Amino acid sequence: MSEHPADLVDQPGPDSGKPLIDALQGRASDRPPLWLMRQAGRYLPEYQALRKQAETFIEFCLSPDLAVEATLQPLRRYRLNAAILFSDILVIPYALGQAVGFEQGEGPRLEPVRDAEAIDALEMDGLVDRLGPVYEAARRVSKALEPGVTFIGFAGAPWTVATYMVEGGTSRDFTMVKRLAFGDPHGFAKLMDVLTEATIAHLLAQIEAGAEVVQVFDSWAGVLSETDFERFAIEPMRRIVDRIKDSARPVPVIGFPRGAGAGYAQYVAATGVDAVSLDTSVPLGWARDQLQPMATLQGNLDPEVLVCGGELLERETRRIMGALGDGPFIFNLGHGVNKDTPVDHVAQLVELVRGAG
Ligand code: CP3
Repeated sequence: MSEHPADLVDQPGPDSGKPLIDALQGRASDRPPLWLMRQAGRYLPEYQALRKQAETFIEFCLSPDLAVEATLQPLRRYRLNAAILFSDILVIPYALGQAVGFEQGEGPRLEPVRDAEAIDALEMDGLVDRLGPVYEAARRVSKALEPGVTFIGFAGAPWTVATYMVEGGTSRDFTMVKRLAFGDPHGFAKLMDVLTEATIAHLLAQIEAGAEVVQVFDSWAGVLSETDFERFAIEPMRRIVDRIKDSARPVPVIGFPRGAGAGYAQYVAATGVDAVSLDTSVPLGWARDQLQPMATLQGNLDPEVLVCGGELLERETRRIMGALGDGPFIFNLGHGVNKDTPVDHVAQLVELVRGAG
């Protein structure tokens, strides 16, 4: 069908041809753009099959062929508005010289960094070279995407990456990392400084390789006191945002201070992020009134609602779109896609958000 000027009248206002970029520039639209944290990965049978081609998960992340394929898999199934580079936040400790492994069903295992000696042994020089395969994957993805699809690069925030490095894996109570932070403030400041610089270098290299947006995951921001949230979440993020904005390609930045509660307001005001990703617990009326005037909002469907599907998925999706859809908004989950998610439920969600067309 040929394009008639009348067909264009309904299209929402000055746009870049990329709905996700439009939202990040502060424009609202009738239908929000949509992508999902962890949209690639284990809930997809084609990922499970591909995963067998590398022995370890780090090897998988550092194989451009496999990382490109895993990035593109969800886009072949679903009409998503963005691709997120397939990688992991723990490639940073790996590239700093820490031993990082992933045990099946047990999550990551790292050789813990808990004293001045271990912190001093971390090797910043050559970091970007060691992660060369990640940027090679990014360059290839960037060339492979359809014109309307936005390419997102990412990193873990320094605090969240520090928790894995010091605890040696996923934690419940964050005893070790807090003992280091409070017991050896000087040593911990050094670790946070190394991680902040490594994160900046890693994000800038992804941007240079074609990432059009970056997201910083602070998955464990919610375990910090008010003072520590300021020092360990906001301060490093402000530095990261400043450096990206001062760079040759100042792309939009999405922050995700998961579990920050009322701290979300200070985070948005003080870091300069273009958008903030809301975890499932953030009340939407509050977010609309207090946060949306300052930044684009992203979120926040409970990943377990996506596992459940059906009428609950429909009701919750409509509630979120109704609450946040009048301002700049990107539909997403409140955390990553769970590995038990049925692929049909993701299809149902995409149809609900984007419409049947
Ligand atoms: O599709 C995407 O979103 C891109 C890929 C991506 C992965 N990890 C792949 C992955 C992204 C954006 C991440 C981020 C990440 N990694 C975070 C922040 C987001 C969050 O979930 O809070 C964190 C904390 C990690 C650290 C990490 N990596 C853990 C705790 C685990 C084990 C638990 C788990 O969910 O598997 C990983 C491994 C991991 N990262 C897998 C994938 C697909 C599973 C590896 C496998 O195939 O066995």
